[in-house]
Amino acid sequence: MKIAMLASEGAPYIKSGGLGDVMEALPSALARIPGNEVVLILPYYKKILDNPKYEVEQVSQFYVSLGWRNQYAGVYRLKNRADGVRVYFIDSLYYFGAREGAIYGDIDDGERFAFFSKACLDTLVNLDFIPDVIQCNDWQTALVPTLLKAQYQPLLPDTKCVFTIHNVEYQGWAEGSFFDDVLALPWEWRPTLDMSGCVNMMKGAIETADMVSTVSETYARELMYPYYAHGLDSVLSPAAWKLTGITNGIDVNTFNPETDPALPAHYNADTFREGKAACKAALQKEVGLPQAPDVPLMVMVTRLVGHKGLDLLCHIARQLIWEENAQLLILGTGEARFEQFFRELAEEFPDRVAAKITFNLGLASRIYAGGDIYLMPSKSEPCGLSQMNAMRYGTVPVVHATGGLKDTVPPVDENGENGLGFTFQSYNAHDFLNALKRCLALYHHNPQAFQKLQYVDMCQDFSWDVPAQKYMQMFTKVCAG
Ligand code: GLC
Repeated sequence: MKIAMLASEGAPYIKSGGLGDVMEALPSALARIPGNEVVLILPYYKKILDNPKYEVEQVSQFYVSLGWRNQYAGVYRLKNRADGVRVYFIDSLYYFGAREGAIYGDIDDGERFAFFSKACLDTLVNLDFIPDVIQCNDWQTALVPTLLKAQYQPLLPDTKCVFTIHNVEYQGWAEGSFFDDVLALPWEWRPTLDMSGCVNMMKGAIETADMVSTVSETYARELMYPYYAHGLDSVLSPAAWKLTGITNGIDVNTFNPETDPALPAHYNADTFREGKAACKAALQKEVGLPQAPDVPLMVMVTRLVGHKGLDLLCHIARQLIWEENAQLLILGTGEARFEQFFRELAEEFPDRVAAKITFNLGLASRIYAGGDIYLMPSKSEPCGLSQMNAMRYGTVPVVHATGGLKDTVPPVDENGENGLGFTFQSYNAHDFLNALKRCLALYHHNPQAFQKLQYVDMCQDFSWDVPAQKYMQMFTKVCAG
């Protein structure tokens, strides 16, 4: 099958979150399936352009029309990718290559990614790679299925389109005038993209894609409800027939405690007791916590934003510290109010709390390895990857039973068995605290059961093999339809 995957980020070239991880491992997993040809198209951001590691050759160039604008696009092919995925970067100094800083957040983001979406389709046509399926991701490429139906049908008549939602919160809203000014599509497509007089790109994608997927089964069901759908429940409900949830995997080669170069000691499911003890001691030293092997180390690697459940943690943090003998370590950056809270907490309890307000992939690995308990109380979580990273490194998760967290962390029973971690059902600070206390009790009072749980967590298969097969089933179905 010929598959074209379009996204605004993909590791190792460029990544701001989980989408970047998925776009590293999923194309690879699909390319390993015999008979598949996989193309991945990404914007040629300054950070990629400036990186001498990525050798490229130009393979095409053309102009993209966006209303009255005519914008140059170059297409560069990456020469040194080993796994068979063909990677192309869309070059535009104006929209991507000459911009410093973060990859999102510019005032003209709507126009930038409208350009990218069109350029992707033009690339496929120009390179004569006519895919059976285009798989596009989140709002940045959400215009693709609409453009395909409204403009590119004659050029790509048999190509189907699957749209994947990684997070419904960011939908690609633009002013109503965007429709004429930037997209200049025939008027009859206006209602497809219209929401309350504005353009909503994700709405258009949900309506026009042949199939819509999201990144866990539970999240697919949650999206039917206003609480989770951020205004799109009325669009998603009628599309339920074509909505599938496929739970993400993680890159088990990158996230492997046996080989991870960032770790001070290596281990597997059979040797984790010594290996994790060494990693814990080194981590406590690195972050300035007392090196206490028997004090449970609770850890969190996260963007410090509201929906990650930090308000719950802030609410109970002091009570947790007073009532429990445990250490807390947080790594991440984000909203100033949370950064400040954890900095102050660490100053107030230097022997119990450490806060590293920074982005550091090596330290993140050392935290997955050196921690005992991983906290993920997200308010909503389409899939979530770090709870799987944590389990792979033998760190027991305590999570809010929502979205992918619910699907990947079945709750243990009172003996710490028949599940993978501790969960709480309602988004409530003291329910979270109770789940934490149950986990800490197992750690203190039944260390053997706690270690058995760590072992079971480490033995899980979180690889992309199974999800990649599910994507194939979806693609096959969509091509047959
Ligand atoms: C988004 C979601 C996260 C998911 C990731 C990859 O970042 O918030 O839950 O794991 O996309 O699909």
